[in-house]
Amino acid sequence: MAQKSGQCVVVSSPATPQENFTLAAPSRSVSSVEGGDGTLTWRLVGEFRDLIMKKCRRVYSKKGSRHDLGLFFHNGTFYALGAWCGHMGGPLFEGDIEDYKGSCHVMCPWHAYMFDLKTGKNEIGLEQSTHEVRVADGKVYIKHESPLSLYPFL
Ligand code: FES
Repeated sequence: MAQKSGQCVVVSSPATPQENFTLAAPSRSVSSVEGGDGTLTWRLVGEFRDLIMKKCRRVYSKKGSRHDLGLFFHNGTFYALGAWCGHMGGPLFEGDIEDYKGSCHVMCPWHAYMFDLKTGKNEIGLEQSTHEVRVADGKVYIKHESPLSLYPFL
């Protein structure tokens, strides 16, 4: 059962067991690479059980809002793209997720351009940054150059 919350669909229960969320394993253990050293590494975002409750959300970067991400959960898979649309800066993390031409896309809420969640590309040549996501020990991590948070950094 799903219900609308703003522009995102809220999923009341996961469609797939957690064990099926397997993504590329990091080269080092996740716990050993947390930190704020500015290097590209796995950054803790939050608990898996919490993050599957929304199809799209904003993830804040400690480096500043230009580096924020949109975290998307669709058909049992997480995707992370740059938060701000490459067209005119719309908030992609408030977009709707749709299956379009055989793959999953997010539709920008400002002018309705579609971006492929896997590649970050769209049909007119715009391209969002894409970021690896992994689930380990019930937590979700994104490979990024700065610490990440579900709430703004103060
Ligand atoms: S700002 Fe996203 S489509 Fe225009």
